[in-house]
Amino acid sequence: MKKLRVGICGWGNVATGLFNTIENNNKFIKSNGNLEIEIVVIGARRDNPKCDPGKIKIERDIFDVIDHDIDVLVELIGGVEVARELILKAIKNKKHIITANKAVLFHHGDEIFKEARSNDIKVLFESSVCAGTPIIKLLTEELSANKVTKIAGMLNGTSNFILSNMEEGADFKPTLELAQKEGYAEPDPTFDIEGMDAAHKIGILSSLAYGTPLPPDDFYIEGISKVEKIDFKYAKDMGFTIKHLAVSKLNNENIELRAHPVLIKEDSYLANLKSVRNGIEIETDLLGTLHIAGSGAGQESTASGVISDLVHLANSNNNTKEINLSSKKKLIDFLSLSFQYYFYIEAEDIPGVMASITSMFAEKKIGIESIVQKEDLKDNMVPIVLITDLFLEKEHDDLLKNILNLDSVFKVRSIRIEID
Ligand SMILES: NC(=O)c1ccc[n+]([C@@H]2O[C@H](COP(=O)([O-])OP(=O)(O)OC[C@H]3O[C@@H](n4cnc5c(N)ncnc54)[C@H](OP(=O)(O)O)[C@@H]3O)[C@@H](O)[C@H]2O)c1
Repeated sequence: MKKLRVGICGWGNVATGLFNTIENNNKFIKSNGNLEIEIVVIGARRDNPKCDPGKIKIERDIFDVIDHDIDVLVELIGGVEVARELILKAIKNKKHIITANKAVLFHHGDEIFKEARSNDIKVLFESSVCAGTPIIKLLTEELSANKVTKIAGMLNGTSNFILSNMEEGADFKPTLELAQKEGYAEPDPTFDIEGMDAAHKIGILSSLAYGTPLPPDDFYIEGISKVEKIDFKYAKDMGFTIKHLAVSKLNNENIELRAHPVLIKEDSYLANLKSVRNGIEIETDLLGTLHIAGSGAGQESTASGVISDLVHLANSNNNTKEINLSSKKKLIDFLSLSFQYYFYIEAEDIPGVMASITSMFAEKKIGIESIVQKEDLKDNMVPIVLITDLFLEKEHDDLLKNILNLDSVFKVRSIRIEID
Protein backbone atom coordinates (compact mmCIF):
# COMPACT_ATOMS: atom_id res chain seq x y z
CA MET A 1 0.00 0.00 0.00
CA LYS A 2 1.19 3.50 -0.84
CA LYS A 3 1.64 6.03 1.94
CA LEU A 4 1.57 9.84 1.78
CA ARG A 5 2.78 12.23 4.46
CA VAL A 6 0.53 15.25 4.36
CA GLY A 7 0.65 18.82 5.67
CA ILE A 8 -2.62 20.77 5.71
CA CYS A 9 -2.62 24.57 5.57
CA GLY A 10 -5.77 26.24 6.88
CA TRP A 11 -8.03 24.90 9.60
CA GLY A 12 -11.48 26.06 8.51
CA ASN A 13 -14.50 24.43 7.00
CA VAL A 14 -12.82 22.31 4.33
CA ALA A 15 -9.67 21.44 6.29
CA THR A 16 -11.62 20.13 9.28
CA GLY A 17 -13.99 18.33 6.90
CA LEU A 18 -10.96 16.71 5.27
CA PHE A 19 -9.53 15.71 8.67
CA ASN A 20 -12.81 14.07 9.72
CA THR A 21 -13.35 12.35 6.37
CA ILE A 22 -9.86 10.86 6.40
CA GLU A 23 -10.67 9.43 9.86
CA ASN A 24 -14.20 8.27 9.06
CA ASN A 25 -13.59 6.82 5.59
CA ASN A 26 -10.12 5.49 6.21
CA LYS A 27 -11.22 1.94 5.39
CA PHE A 28 -12.42 2.95 1.88
CA ILE A 29 -9.38 5.10 1.19
CA LYS A 30 -7.16 2.12 2.03
CA SER A 31 -9.11 -0.51 0.14
CA ASN A 32 -10.34 1.52 -2.86
CA GLY A 33 -7.45 3.95 -3.11
CA ASN A 34 -4.64 1.68 -1.95
CA LEU A 35 -3.47 4.59 0.18
CA GLU A 36 -2.56 5.30 3.75
CA ILE A 37 -2.73 9.01 4.56
CA GLU A 38 -0.67 10.32 7.45
CA ILE A 39 -1.45 13.91 8.47
CA VAL A 40 1.90 15.05 9.82
CA VAL A 41 1.24 18.73 10.46
CA ILE A 42 -1.54 21.32 10.31
CA GLY A 43 -0.96 25.03 9.69
CA ALA A 44 -3.63 26.75 11.79
CA ARG A 45 -3.20 30.28 13.03
CA ARG A 46 -5.81 29.51 15.67
CA ASP A 47 -7.67 26.51 17.08
CA ASN A 48 -10.98 25.52 15.59
CA PRO A 49 -13.49 24.71 18.34
CA LYS A 50 -15.35 22.39 15.93
CA CYS A 51 -12.42 19.99 15.48
CA ASP A 52 -9.77 18.51 17.76
CA PRO A 53 -6.65 17.50 15.79
CA GLY A 54 -5.44 15.27 18.64
CA LYS A 55 -1.66 14.83 18.77
CA ILE A 56 -0.96 16.20 15.28
CA LYS A 57 1.69 18.93 15.26
CA ILE A 58 0.20 22.42 14.82
CA GLU A 59 2.18 25.25 13.24
CA ARG A 60 0.81 28.74 13.86
CA ASP A 61 2.68 30.08 10.82
CA ILE A 62 1.38 28.20 7.77
CA PHE A 63 4.71 28.68 5.96
CA ASP A 64 6.42 26.50 8.62
CA VAL A 65 4.39 23.53 7.33
CA ILE A 66 6.74 23.44 4.34
CA ASP A 67 9.72 22.66 6.57
CA HIS A 68 8.25 19.36 7.73
CA ASP A 69 9.00 15.99 6.19
CA ILE A 70 5.85 15.85 4.03
CA ASP A 71 5.19 14.63 0.48
CA VAL A 72 2.29 16.97 -0.18
CA LEU A 73 0.98 20.28 1.05
CA VAL A 74 -2.79 20.65 0.96
CA GLU A 75 -3.60 24.35 0.62
CA LEU A 76 -6.99 25.15 2.16
CA ILE A 77 -6.56 28.77 3.23
CA GLY A 78 -8.39 30.30 0.25
CA GLY A 79 -7.70 33.81 -1.07
CA VAL A 80 -5.15 34.76 -3.67
CA GLU A 81 -1.84 36.36 -2.76
CA VAL A 82 -0.81 34.49 0.42
CA ALA A 83 -1.98 31.23 -1.17
CA ARG A 84 0.14 31.95 -4.26
CA GLU A 85 3.21 32.66 -2.13
CA LEU A 86 2.65 29.52 -0.05
CA ILE A 87 2.16 27.28 -3.09
CA LEU A 88 5.19 28.63 -4.97
CA LYS A 89 7.40 28.29 -1.90
CA ALA A 90 6.21 24.72 -1.28
CA ILE A 91 6.86 23.80 -4.94
CA LYS A 92 10.39 25.18 -4.74
CA ASN A 93 10.83 22.98 -1.65
CA LYS A 94 9.73 19.94 -3.69
CA LYS A 95 6.36 19.43 -2.03
CA HIS A 96 3.49 18.34 -4.23
CA ILE A 97 0.43 20.59 -3.99
CA ILE A 98 -3.26 19.85 -3.65
CA THR A 99 -5.54 22.86 -3.56
CA ALA A 100 -9.29 23.53 -3.53
CA ASN A 101 -8.65 27.19 -4.26
CA LYS A 102 -10.15 28.30 -7.60
CA ALA A 103 -9.24 31.95 -7.04
CA VAL A 104 -5.48 31.38 -6.80
CA LEU A 105 -5.52 29.13 -9.88
CA PHE A 106 -7.63 31.58 -11.88
CA HIS A 107 -5.29 34.49 -11.13
CA HIS A 108 -1.92 32.70 -11.00
CA GLY A 109 -2.48 29.28 -12.58
CA ASP A 110 0.01 29.68 -15.43
CA GLU A 111 2.76 30.82 -13.07
CA ILE A 112 2.05 28.01 -10.59
CA PHE A 113 1.99 25.27 -13.23
CA LYS A 114 5.15 26.58 -14.86
CA GLU A 115 6.96 26.50 -11.53
CA ALA A 116 5.60 23.02 -10.80
CA ARG A 117 6.80 21.71 -14.16
CA SER A 118 10.28 23.08 -13.73
CA ASN A 119 10.51 21.49 -10.27
CA ASP A 120 8.96 18.20 -11.40
CA ILE A 121 6.12 18.67 -8.91
CA LYS A 122 2.42 17.95 -9.29
CA VAL A 123 -0.36 20.43 -8.60
CA LEU A 124 -3.78 18.78 -8.29
CA PHE A 125 -7.02 20.69 -7.88
CA GLU A 126 -10.09 18.48 -8.27
CA SER A 127 -12.01 20.35 -5.56
CA SER A 128 -11.43 23.78 -7.06
CA VAL A 129 -14.38 23.37 -9.47
CA CYS A 130 -17.68 21.89 -8.22
CA ALA A 131 -15.99 20.67 -5.00
CA GLY A 132 -15.59 16.89 -5.31
CA THR A 133 -17.83 16.35 -8.33
CA PRO A 134 -15.11 14.89 -10.55
CA ILE A 135 -15.01 17.28 -13.48
CA ILE A 136 -11.24 17.95 -13.51
CA LYS A 137 -10.14 14.33 -13.85
CA LEU A 138 -13.01 13.69 -16.25
CA LEU A 139 -11.71 16.42 -18.56
CA THR A 140 -8.01 15.72 -18.19
CA GLU A 141 -8.04 11.94 -18.19
CA GLU A 142 -11.27 10.18 -19.12
CA LEU A 143 -11.93 12.45 -22.11
CA SER A 144 -8.32 12.47 -23.34
CA ALA A 145 -9.24 10.91 -26.69
CA ASN A 146 -12.05 13.38 -27.34
CA LYS A 147 -12.19 16.74 -29.03
CA VAL A 148 -14.21 18.79 -26.51
CA THR A 149 -16.28 21.36 -28.36
CA LYS A 150 -18.29 22.94 -25.55
CA ILE A 151 -18.39 23.03 -21.75
CA ALA A 152 -21.43 24.74 -20.26
CA GLY A 153 -22.63 24.59 -16.72
CA MET A 154 -24.22 26.01 -13.65
CA LEU A 155 -21.11 26.30 -11.56
CA ASN A 156 -22.33 28.36 -8.64
CA GLY A 157 -24.65 26.66 -6.16
CA THR A 158 -25.88 29.91 -4.59
CA SER A 159 -27.01 31.32 -7.94
CA ASN A 160 -28.75 28.09 -8.85
CA PHE A 161 -30.48 27.99 -5.44
CA ILE A 162 -31.74 31.56 -5.85
CA LEU A 163 -32.89 31.11 -9.47
CA SER A 164 -34.61 27.78 -8.67
CA ASN A 165 -36.56 29.46 -5.86
CA MET A 166 -37.46 32.41 -8.08
CA GLU A 167 -38.74 29.94 -10.66
CA GLU A 168 -41.16 28.75 -7.97
CA GLY A 169 -42.37 32.32 -7.34
CA ALA A 170 -39.97 33.71 -4.72
CA ASP A 171 -38.41 37.18 -4.93
CA PHE A 172 -34.65 37.72 -5.28
CA LYS A 173 -33.90 39.49 -1.98
CA PRO A 174 -35.65 37.15 0.48
CA THR A 175 -34.24 34.15 -1.42
CA LEU A 176 -30.73 35.53 -1.09
CA GLU A 177 -31.36 36.00 2.64
CA LEU A 178 -32.60 32.40 2.84
CA ALA A 179 -29.45 31.21 1.02
CA GLN A 180 -27.35 33.06 3.62
CA LYS A 181 -29.39 31.59 6.48
CA GLU A 182 -28.99 28.07 5.09
CA GLY A 183 -25.23 28.62 4.75
CA TYR A 184 -25.18 28.40 0.93
CA ALA A 185 -24.20 32.03 0.41
CA GLU A 186 -21.38 33.93 2.09
CA PRO A 187 -22.25 36.88 4.39
CA ASP A 188 -20.95 39.01 1.49
CA PRO A 189 -22.54 37.20 -1.47
CA THR A 190 -21.21 39.53 -4.19
CA PHE A 191 -18.80 36.98 -5.62
CA ASP A 192 -21.56 34.40 -6.09
CA ILE A 193 -24.41 36.55 -7.34
CA GLU A 194 -22.30 38.78 -9.59
CA GLY A 195 -20.90 35.75 -11.43
CA MET A 196 -17.24 35.88 -10.34
CA ASP A 197 -17.22 32.48 -8.66
CA ALA A 198 -18.64 30.78 -11.76
CA ALA A 199 -16.22 32.78 -13.92
CA HIS A 200 -13.22 31.50 -11.93
CA LYS A 201 -14.41 27.94 -12.41
CA ILE A 202 -15.09 28.16 -16.14
CA GLY A 203 -11.72 29.92 -16.53
CA ILE A 204 -10.03 26.86 -15.03
CA LEU A 205 -12.06 24.38 -17.13
CA SER A 206 -11.36 26.39 -20.27
CA SER A 207 -7.66 26.35 -19.53
CA LEU A 208 -7.77 22.58 -19.10
CA ALA A 209 -9.74 21.93 -22.25
CA TYR A 210 -8.30 24.56 -24.58
CA GLY A 211 -5.20 26.06 -22.99
CA THR A 212 -6.71 29.52 -22.50
CA PRO A 213 -4.42 31.47 -20.17
CA LEU A 214 -4.76 31.77 -16.40
CA PRO A 215 -5.57 34.50 -15.69
CA PRO A 216 -7.66 34.60 -18.88
CA ASP A 217 -7.88 37.73 -20.96
CA ASP A 218 -10.94 39.83 -20.13
CA PHE A 219 -14.18 37.95 -20.74
CA TYR A 220 -17.86 38.69 -20.25
CA ILE A 221 -19.15 38.11 -16.72
CA GLU A 222 -22.63 39.02 -15.52
CA GLY A 223 -24.43 37.83 -12.39
CA ILE A 224 -28.06 37.16 -11.56
CA SER A 225 -28.93 40.29 -9.60
CA LYS A 226 -30.92 41.90 -12.45
CA VAL A 227 -33.17 38.90 -13.10
CA GLU A 228 -36.73 39.40 -11.79
CA LYS A 229 -39.37 36.90 -10.71
CA ILE A 230 -41.73 37.89 -13.55
CA ASP A 231 -39.06 36.93 -16.13
CA PHE A 232 -39.54 33.28 -15.14
CA LYS A 233 -43.27 33.49 -15.88
CA TYR A 234 -42.73 34.97 -19.34
CA ALA A 235 -39.83 32.60 -20.04
CA LYS A 236 -42.05 29.66 -19.10
CA ASP A 237 -44.82 30.86 -21.45
CA MET A 238 -42.30 30.36 -24.25
CA GLY A 239 -40.91 27.01 -23.02
CA PHE A 240 -37.80 28.37 -21.27
CA THR A 241 -36.43 28.78 -17.79
CA ILE A 242 -33.57 30.97 -16.53
CA LYS A 243 -30.19 29.71 -15.34
CA HIS A 244 -26.76 31.21 -14.74
CA LEU A 245 -24.53 29.54 -17.29
CA ALA A 246 -20.76 29.58 -17.61
CA VAL A 247 -19.60 28.60 -21.08
CA SER A 248 -16.33 27.76 -22.78
CA LYS A 249 -16.88 26.83 -26.39
CA LEU A 250 -14.75 26.06 -29.40
CA ASN A 251 -15.78 28.47 -32.13
CA ASN A 252 -13.81 28.28 -35.41
CA GLU A 253 -10.79 27.02 -33.47
CA ASN A 254 -10.90 30.01 -31.12
CA ILE A 255 -12.64 30.13 -27.74
CA GLU A 256 -15.86 31.72 -26.59
CA LEU A 257 -15.67 32.30 -22.83
CA ARG A 258 -18.54 33.87 -20.90
CA ALA A 259 -20.61 33.62 -17.71
CA HIS A 260 -24.09 35.20 -17.56
CA PRO A 261 -27.81 34.44 -17.08
CA VAL A 262 -29.53 32.74 -19.99
CA LEU A 263 -32.94 31.52 -21.04
CA ILE A 264 -32.62 27.79 -21.74
CA LYS A 265 -35.23 25.29 -22.88
CA GLU A 266 -37.12 24.10 -19.83
CA ASP A 267 -36.95 20.47 -20.93
CA SER A 268 -33.14 20.51 -21.20
CA TYR A 269 -30.91 18.60 -18.79
CA LEU A 270 -29.39 21.69 -17.17
CA ALA A 271 -32.79 23.37 -16.75
CA ASN A 272 -33.84 20.53 -14.50
CA LEU A 273 -30.98 20.75 -12.04
CA LYS A 274 -32.49 22.68 -9.16
CA SER A 275 -31.38 24.17 -5.86
CA VAL A 276 -27.67 24.21 -4.95
CA ARG A 277 -26.70 21.50 -7.40
CA ASN A 278 -23.93 22.14 -9.90
CA GLY A 279 -24.24 20.64 -13.35
CA ILE A 280 -22.07 20.60 -16.44
CA GLU A 281 -22.75 19.59 -20.03
CA ILE A 282 -19.74 18.63 -22.14
CA GLU A 283 -19.95 18.19 -25.89
CA THR A 284 -17.38 15.87 -27.40
CA ASP A 285 -16.75 14.25 -30.76
CA LEU A 286 -16.51 10.64 -29.61
CA LEU A 287 -18.96 10.46 -26.70
CA GLY A 288 -21.47 13.04 -27.86
CA THR A 289 -23.02 15.04 -25.03
CA LEU A 290 -22.02 14.12 -21.52
CA HIS A 291 -23.60 15.31 -18.26
CA ILE A 292 -22.20 15.49 -14.80
CA ALA A 293 -23.97 16.87 -11.75
CA GLY A 294 -23.39 16.88 -8.04
CA SER A 295 -22.86 18.85 -4.92
CA GLY A 296 -20.74 21.91 -5.64
CA ALA A 297 -19.81 22.80 -2.08
CA GLY A 298 -19.67 21.52 1.46
CA GLN A 299 -17.08 19.96 3.73
CA GLU A 300 -17.60 16.37 2.70
CA SER A 301 -17.91 16.95 -1.04
CA THR A 302 -14.75 19.04 -1.03
CA ALA A 303 -12.92 16.46 1.09
CA SER A 304 -13.93 13.81 -1.44
CA GLY A 305 -12.15 15.74 -4.21
CA VAL A 306 -9.04 16.42 -2.12
CA ILE A 307 -8.77 12.74 -1.19
CA SER A 308 -9.19 11.71 -4.83
CA ASP A 309 -6.20 13.95 -5.59
CA LEU A 310 -4.20 12.27 -2.80
CA VAL A 311 -5.06 8.83 -4.20
CA HIS A 312 -4.14 10.01 -7.68
CA LEU A 313 -0.85 11.44 -6.50
CA ALA A 314 0.09 8.24 -4.73
CA ASN A 315 -0.89 5.88 -7.51
CA SER A 316 0.01 7.64 -10.75
CA ASN A 317 3.32 8.08 -12.51
CA ASN A 318 4.76 11.47 -13.39
CA ASN A 319 2.83 11.92 -16.60
CA THR A 320 -0.29 13.48 -15.10
CA LYS A 321 -1.83 15.98 -17.45
CA GLU A 322 -2.21 19.34 -15.83
CA ILE A 323 -3.30 22.68 -17.23
CA ASN A 324 -2.88 22.50 -20.97
CA LEU A 325 -0.16 25.00 -21.81
CA SER A 326 0.86 23.41 -25.08
CA SER A 327 -2.11 24.28 -27.31
CA LYS A 328 -3.10 27.80 -26.41
CA LYS A 329 -6.15 29.18 -28.17
CA LYS A 330 -7.30 32.79 -28.37
CA LEU A 331 -10.43 34.17 -26.74
CA ILE A 332 -13.01 35.55 -29.14
CA ASP A 333 -14.09 39.16 -28.58
CA PHE A 334 -17.47 38.90 -26.83
CA LEU A 335 -18.86 41.81 -28.87
CA SER A 336 -18.39 39.81 -32.06
CA LEU A 337 -20.69 36.99 -30.86
CA SER A 338 -24.37 36.80 -31.79
CA PHE A 339 -27.28 35.89 -29.52
CA GLN A 340 -31.02 35.74 -29.61
CA TYR A 341 -32.43 37.86 -26.81
CA TYR A 342 -35.42 38.02 -24.47
CA PHE A 343 -36.47 41.64 -23.81
CA TYR A 344 -38.80 42.81 -21.04
CA ILE A 345 -40.02 46.36 -21.63
CA GLU A 346 -42.38 48.31 -19.37
CA ALA A 347 -44.12 51.09 -21.29
CA GLU A 348 -47.03 53.47 -21.07
CA ASP A 349 -50.22 52.00 -22.56
CA ILE A 350 -50.75 54.64 -25.27
CA PRO A 351 -51.38 54.36 -28.99
CA GLY A 352 -48.21 53.89 -31.05
CA VAL A 353 -46.01 52.58 -28.23
CA MET A 354 -45.50 49.18 -29.89
CA ALA A 355 -44.57 50.86 -33.17
CA SER A 356 -42.01 53.13 -31.53
CA ILE A 357 -40.40 50.17 -29.71
CA THR A 358 -40.25 47.94 -32.79
CA SER A 359 -38.77 50.82 -34.79
CA MET A 360 -35.73 50.77 -32.46
CA PHE A 361 -35.07 47.18 -33.53
CA ALA A 362 -35.79 47.94 -37.19
CA GLU A 363 -33.27 50.80 -37.12
CA LYS A 364 -30.58 48.30 -36.26
CA LYS A 365 -31.97 45.71 -38.70
CA ILE A 366 -32.68 43.33 -35.83
CA GLY A 367 -35.54 40.92 -36.51
CA ILE A 368 -38.23 40.18 -33.91
CA GLU A 369 -39.25 36.53 -33.64
CA SER A 370 -42.21 37.19 -31.34
CA ILE A 371 -43.69 40.14 -29.47
CA VAL A 372 -46.50 40.02 -26.93
CA GLN A 373 -48.18 42.74 -24.92
CA LYS A 374 -48.90 41.21 -21.51
CA GLU A 375 -51.58 41.98 -18.91
CA ASP A 376 -51.75 45.59 -17.70
CA LEU A 377 -49.74 46.77 -14.73
CA LYS A 378 -50.91 49.61 -12.50
CA ASP A 379 -50.64 53.30 -13.54
CA ASN A 380 -51.54 52.64 -17.20
CA MET A 381 -48.34 50.64 -17.78
CA VAL A 382 -48.01 47.48 -19.87
CA PRO A 383 -45.25 44.89 -20.02
CA ILE A 384 -44.09 43.99 -23.51
CA VAL A 385 -42.12 40.79 -23.95
CA LEU A 386 -40.23 40.02 -27.11
CA ILE A 387 -37.75 37.55 -28.50
CA THR A 388 -35.33 38.76 -31.13
CA ASP A 389 -33.63 36.98 -33.95
CA LEU A 390 -29.89 36.48 -33.61
CA PHE A 391 -27.98 39.76 -33.58
CA LEU A 392 -24.47 40.93 -32.88
CA GLU A 393 -23.60 41.53 -29.24
CA LYS A 394 -21.96 44.85 -30.12
CA GLU A 395 -25.42 46.27 -30.97
CA HIS A 396 -26.94 45.29 -27.63
CA ASP A 397 -26.03 48.10 -25.19
CA ASP A 398 -26.86 50.76 -27.72
CA LEU A 399 -30.21 49.17 -28.48
CA LEU A 400 -31.08 48.95 -24.78
CA LYS A 401 -30.19 52.63 -24.34
CA ASN A 402 -32.25 53.69 -27.35
CA ILE A 403 -35.32 51.85 -26.06
CA LEU A 404 -34.95 53.33 -22.59
CA ASN A 405 -34.66 56.80 -24.12
CA LEU A 406 -38.18 56.53 -25.57
CA ASP A 407 -40.54 58.81 -23.61
CA SER A 408 -43.13 56.05 -23.21
CA VAL A 409 -40.67 53.44 -21.86
CA PHE A 410 -39.95 53.19 -18.12
CA LYS A 411 -38.01 49.97 -17.76
CA VAL A 412 -36.12 47.59 -20.01
CA ARG A 413 -33.98 44.56 -19.38
CA SER A 414 -32.73 41.69 -21.48
CA ILE A 415 -31.43 38.14 -21.11
CA ARG A 416 -29.53 36.17 -23.74
CA ILE A 417 -30.97 32.90 -25.01
CA GLU A 418 -28.74 29.82 -25.08
CA ILE A 419 -29.83 28.04 -28.20
CA ASP A 420 -27.64 24.90 -28.25
N1 LIG B 1 -16.40 25.59 1.63
C1 LIG B 1 -16.64 24.90 0.53
O1 LIG B 1 -17.69 24.27 0.38
C2 LIG B 1 -15.61 24.86 -0.56
C3 LIG B 1 -15.85 24.11 -1.73
C4 LIG B 1 -14.86 24.04 -2.72
C5 LIG B 1 -13.69 24.74 -2.55
N2 LIG B 1 -13.49 25.49 -1.41
C6 LIG B 1 -12.24 26.20 -1.26
O2 LIG B 1 -11.52 25.67 -0.15
C7 LIG B 1 -10.73 26.70 0.44
C8 LIG B 1 -11.03 26.79 1.93
O3 LIG B 1 -12.40 27.11 2.11
P1 LIG B 1 -13.09 27.04 3.56
O4 LIG B 1 -14.55 27.04 3.29
O5 LIG B 1 -12.50 25.95 4.38
O6 LIG B 1 -12.66 28.45 4.16
P2 LIG B 1 -12.64 28.86 5.71
O7 LIG B 1 -13.61 28.07 6.48
O8 LIG B 1 -12.70 30.33 5.73
O9 LIG B 1 -11.18 28.41 6.21
C9 LIG B 1 -10.00 29.04 5.79
C10 LIG B 1 -8.91 28.67 6.77
O10 LIG B 1 -7.68 29.22 6.32
C11 LIG B 1 -7.13 30.07 7.33
N3 LIG B 1 -6.44 31.18 6.69
C12 LIG B 1 -6.94 32.03 5.77
N4 LIG B 1 -6.01 32.92 5.40
C13 LIG B 1 -4.90 32.63 6.12
C14 LIG B 1 -3.61 33.18 6.20
N5 LIG B 1 -3.27 34.24 5.46
N6 LIG B 1 -2.71 32.62 7.05
C15 LIG B 1 -3.07 31.56 7.81
N7 LIG B 1 -4.27 30.98 7.78
C16 LIG B 1 -5.18 31.52 6.93
C17 LIG B 1 -8.33 30.54 8.13
O11 LIG B 1 -7.87 30.96 9.40
P3 LIG B 1 -8.77 31.91 10.30
O12 LIG B 1 -9.91 31.08 10.78
O13 LIG B 1 -7.84 32.33 11.38
O14 LIG B 1 -9.20 33.06 9.43
C18 LIG B 1 -9.14 29.25 8.17
O15 LIG B 1 -8.59 28.34 9.11
C19 LIG B 1 -11.06 27.98 -0.34
O16 LIG B 1 -10.10 28.17 -1.35
C20 LIG B 1 -12.41 27.67 -0.97
O17 LIG B 1 -12.66 28.39 -2.18
C21 LIG B 1 -14.41 25.56 -0.42
